[in-house]
Amino acid sequence: MNYENLFRPGYIGGLRIKNRVVMTAMGNGLAAENGEASDEIIACYKARAVGGCGLLITEFCAVDGENGIAETHQTLILHRYDCKVFFQLFHPGREGKPQFNGGRQVISASGIVNPATGRVSHEMTREEIHGMVDKFVTGAVYAQQANADGVELHCAHGYLLHQFLSPHSNVRTDEYGGCLENRMRIVREIIEGIHCACGRDFPISVRINGCDYIPEGLQKADAVEIAKLLEHYGVSCINVSSGGYENPAAFIEPCYFPEGWRSRSSRSTLSSTPRPPRRCCARACATSPVCPGRSSPIRTGSARHAAVRKRSCASASAV
Ligand SMILES: Cc1cc2nc3c(=O)[nH]c(=O)nc-3n(C[C@H](O)[C@H](O)[C@H](O)COP(=O)(O)O)c2cc1C
Repeated sequence: MNYENLFRPGYIGGLRIKNRVVMTAMGNGLAAENGEASDEIIACYKARAVGGCGLLITEFCAVDGENGIAETHQTLILHRYDCKVFFQLFHPGREGKPQFNGGRQVISASGIVNPATGRVSHEMTREEIHGMVDKFVTGAVYAQQANADGVELHCAHGYLLHQFLSPHSNVRTDEYGGCLENRMRIVREIIEGIHCACGRDFPISVRINGCDYIPEGLQKADAVEIAKLLEHYGVSCINVSSGGYENPAAFIEPCYFPEGWRSRSSRSTLSSTPRPPRRCCARACATSPVCPGRSSPIRTGSARHAAVRKRSCASASAV
């Protein structure tokens, strides 16, 4: 097998990454109870950096948690091994758990029932949406101040930004609902805000679903249009996943799914952009060739993580 391409440097925007091995975001339950980076979580990420990852995307970091803030010593340790780090920014929206937010109603794009939980969400007002945009932008600023090399916006897996993108969860009739460009508006405003606050050189990766695999959700053709718009908005990387809490097997696939099963939807999503963004490609076995002329890192998630023990995830427990 030829591993030559795998160990060649690649670029995300202007950021050089020493190889094409990317660890995707993985909630690991090792954050401190107050949401801060514990010694355990730092040791966990350090082990992946020592193992040779070119880019490590942290587990999802809630943008409106009351505790926890990125700290420079996390990034310093990874940089010592020439491992780049992106912080994944997210809000659970209607997938939040009231037991962790003082019993308040969860928020979402629309005030409808979430089939995955049976709970009705509070439909965010325009002011609340603007406030949420600010929180994502502030999260990116904190990440940059902590020497992160970029951020990833979590727009997949049924969390808040995905709830806006999908017509299944967004039935609004104002400028944040309806046509795709309206459903993308919150994401566009976040991207513009990060460009403005952190500079256009600060890489933004966006994790999207190549397909929701539920009838009323985003289909492959929608993902193609989303990728084109993201390209137009100036993101550096599109990271294609799939599924959500209504279809968890498409999100974290059982081990009997064939290797690289998601690659067809990822490829159709990404090959549609006029200039394929520097990007993470579909989950693929490490021996597969890297597409010539493209950045195409090889993503691995749970394989890199198998040894990490589980505990409740403090950093993922916000509203
Ligand atoms: C325990 C666990 C936690 C995860 N947490 C996140 C997360 O925080 N953000 C995210 O985008 N994906 C998350 N994922 C999905 C992974 O990034 C990855 O897409 C998925 O595990 C499939 O890839 P793999 O077969 O290489 O593990 C998680 C997966 C697992 C198993």
